[in-house]
Amino acid sequence: YRILESEYVISAVAPAQYPELEWPEVALVGRSNVGKSSLINKICNRKNLARTSSRPGKTQTLNFYRINNEVHLVDLPGYGYANVPKSLKSTWGKMMEQYLKSRAQLRGVLQLIDIRHSPTKDDVAMNEWLAHFQIATAVIITKADKISKGRYAQHVKEIRQTLNIAPHIPTIIFSAQTGEGKEDVIELLDHLWHY
Ligand code: GTP
Ligand code: MG
Repeated sequence: YRILESEYVISAVAPAQYPELEWPEVALVGRSNVGKSSLINKICNRKNLARTSSRPGKTQTLNFYRINNEVHLVDLPGYGYANVPKSLKSTWGKMMEQYLKSRAQLRGVLQLIDIRHSPTKDDVAMNEWLAHFQIATAVIITKADKISKGRYAQHVKEIRQTLNIAPHIPTIIFSAQTGEGKEDVIELLDHLWHY
């Protein structure tokens, strides 16, 4: 599968604003700063399609992107950002739950985890929550360029164990900086969107 066209559609905070098109959709979840928006840019070969920042909490709305005029990719706000006030945290939870529970055309979710760190309680809770609602989930291990290849296996093992990932669930090692794993992510998206 090749991503030839990518276009920003809308930033939504409530279901009434979601695109009405019933195109297959895949969403990205993960801690703030893990690289969700950067992954979208990399796989679409675009520099600034999705806004990124070195400071966590950049994406605060559900941002919809249309790909090849046939499917959607959704960038969701990150979790675990300590400086977010409580009121905003509950707004975040409501927004996420509303989307993940009700979006009929949602075919799957990519959960991003930083290769350097063991998954947090929030990561584990999100993974369990997705499983509970029977949402197809794949784990993308990001920022692979931050450690040496010789340490990959140990880190992947630690991440899979902490998240308690079932053997049939794939993990992909990815770097938005080097492009490592890009083709694997696109193949996985193709599978989720089209099969
Ligand atoms: P929120 O919108 O806050 O939830 O964050 P996000 O998950 O969208 O992260 P974003 O893509 O904005 O990236 C956060 C920071 O990490 C930026 O400074 C990126 O340049 C950097 N970054 C993202 N992916 C990678 C990667 O694969 N390698 C390296 N070295 N840096 C990365
Ligand atoms: Mg973002």
